[in-house]
Amino acid sequence: VIWHCLRPKADIINPNIKKTEEKVVDTMNVDDIKEDISFCRCWRSQEFPLCDGSHNEHNKKTGDNVGPMCLRKQQK
Ligand code: FES
Repeated sequence: VIWHCLRPKADIINPNIKKTEEKVVDTMNVDDIKEDISFCRCWRSQEFPLCDGSHNEHNKKTGDNVGPMCLRKQQK
């Protein structure tokens, strides 16, 4: 029995990002980060893997409380 096939659709976190790929993996070199940057954790961003603020609408619609993971460039 393939258990993941029996899961209800409600368990799916990613509604439409790179659905043809078996697994969505994004890699960024930290040395390439020139300024503060926010990564999407709601899987609704049109700029994925970056946050575009879509989590606000998702939270309003669903009562969820998700938000981005923010990297802050350290001031030297
Ligand atoms: Fe997904 Fe902001 S758009 S966390």
